[in-house]
Amino acid sequence: MHYFSFHDNALHAEQVSLVEIAEQQGTPTFVYSANTIREHYKRLDDALAPIDHEVAYAVKANSNVAVLSLLNEMGASFDIVSGGELYRVVKAGGDPAKCTFAGVGKTREEIEYALELGIHAFNVESEAELNFINKVAGEMGKTAPVSIRVNPNVDAKTHKYISTGKSENKFGIDFDVIADVFERASKMEHVQLKGLQMHIGSQLTTVQPFRDAVTKVAPLAADLKEKYGIEFFSIGGGIGIIYDPALESGSPDWWDANHPEDMPLTTEKYASELIPILKPLGLKILLEPGRYIVGNAGVMITRCLYEKRGKAKTFKIVDAGMNDLIRPALYQGYHEIVPLTQGGPRSTVKTDVVGPVCETGDFFCQDRELPDFEEGELLALMSAGAYGAVMGSTYNSRPLPTEVLVDGDQATVIRKRQTMDDILAQEIF
Ligand code: LLP
Repeated sequence: MHYFSFHDNALHAEQVSLVEIAEQQGTPTFVYSANTIREHYKRLDDALAPIDHEVAYAVKANSNVAVLSLLNEMGASFDIVSGGELYRVVKAGGDPAKCTFAGVGKTREEIEYALELGIHAFNVESEAELNFINKVAGEMGKTAPVSIRVNPNVDAKTHKYISTGKSENKFGIDFDVIADVFERASKMEHVQLKGLQMHIGSQLTTVQPFRDAVTKVAPLAADLKEKYGIEFFSIGGGIGIIYDPALESGSPDWWDANHPEDMPLTTEKYASELIPILKPLGLKILLEPGRYIVGNAGVMITRCLYEKRGKAKTFKIVDAGMNDLIRPALYQGYHEIVPLTQGGPRSTVKTDVVGPVCETGDFFCQDRELPDFEEGELLALMSAGAYGAVMGSTYNSRPLPTEVLVDGDQATVIRKRQTMDDILAQEIF
C-alpha cells in the first residue's frame, strides 16, 4: 500500500501535488510519504504482536535522518551496517542501545565507536571478526554484546545480487559449524553472547524461503538459549514489495511457480506462517525490514528532456540517471513509470526511458509499453523509497538530488540538492 494517488489531475503524495514539488524544487527529486512509512511499520509491528519482538529498521534502505527520526518516534530499533549509520541514528535521536551492528567488514574504529556508545549487539559474521571484537573490547576494558550470524544455506529465490543465505554467499557462518563457534565464543573473556541472527536475502516475494530458513534454524536457537542463555533470535529482513502492480510479484523471474499459494507476500501471511515456529522458542524475535517499510513510500520525480526516435527504438531521455536510481541497471529492478498529470486519454508507446549518463546501462526501462508522454512532461518512478537515494552517486559530476518528506499537507525538504561546490569541497586544487 501507499499514499500516492491521482486527484485534481495530478499525482499526489498524501495531500501534496508532486507537480508543485517539481516546480518548486526542480527535478530529479525523491519524495517520501511519512504516513506510508508509519503505516508499514505499524502493520508489521501489529502482525508480530502475539510474540515478544522488535522491529529493527534496516537503515541502509533509506538513511535520511528525517526518515530515521520518524521511525524512532514510532518506537523502531535499528539494524546498522557501519559507523556512519550509527552516527545517523544518533543524530536522529535514536538510542544506540537499540542498534544491532551487522556487516562482514567492521573496522577497529567502528567497533570502538559502537562499544563507546553502547550498542545492543554486534551481529558477528566470521570467527576472525569475533576474535577481533573480543580483543578490542578487552583493550577498552569492556565486554562486547554479540550475536552470531548463521548462514542457513537456504535459497531465497531472489535476484542473485541480493541473495545472502546460501553457502556460496559471503555472509554469516556455515550452519554446520556455528555450534562450535558459539562454544568458543562462550569461553571468550570480553564478549557476551546475546543472540543468533540470520538474513537470507532481500525482495522475497513468497513466504516459503522464510519458512524453510526459520524451520531449519529454530532448533539451533532453542539449543543456544539453553546452553548460553541467548536472549534474541533475529530472522533478518527481506520482505518483498510489489513493484509492478500488473504482475503482483516484483518480477516474473522471482515468481515461485512451486508455491503460487504464497503470493503475494503479506505481513499477515508472514506472521501466520512464522509465529507458530517462533513462539515456542520463548526468545525475543528481531526483524530487520528495510524495503518493506520504505520501498513503496517513495517516488523519484523526473522531467522528460527529449524524445529520440532511432532506427530500432524510441528513447525518452529524462533528467534523472542511473547515478540517482541504480536499481534497474544493477538488479534489472522494475520501477513503474507514470506521468504526473493525467490529462485526457493517452495513446501508448513502446519506449526505453533513459538518463543522461554516458553508459548504455543508464536506463529505467527498455521496450516498455507506456502511456505516451511528451518532452517537458513530469514523471514519477514509483517504489523508489528503498535503495534509491541512498545508492546515489555523483558519477558524471551530477549533484545528488533533493529529498522531500510529505506528511499530510506539509512538504519539507529533508535534503537539499547538492551544488557543484559541494561536490568539489573535498578536492584540493
Ligand atoms: N538485514 C540484513 C543483514 C541485510 O543485509 C539487509 C539488506 C536487510 C536486513 C534489509 O533487507 P530488506 O528488508 O530491505 O530486504 N540494494 C538492493 C537490496 C540490498 C539489500 C541488502 N541487505 C536492492 O535495491 O534491491
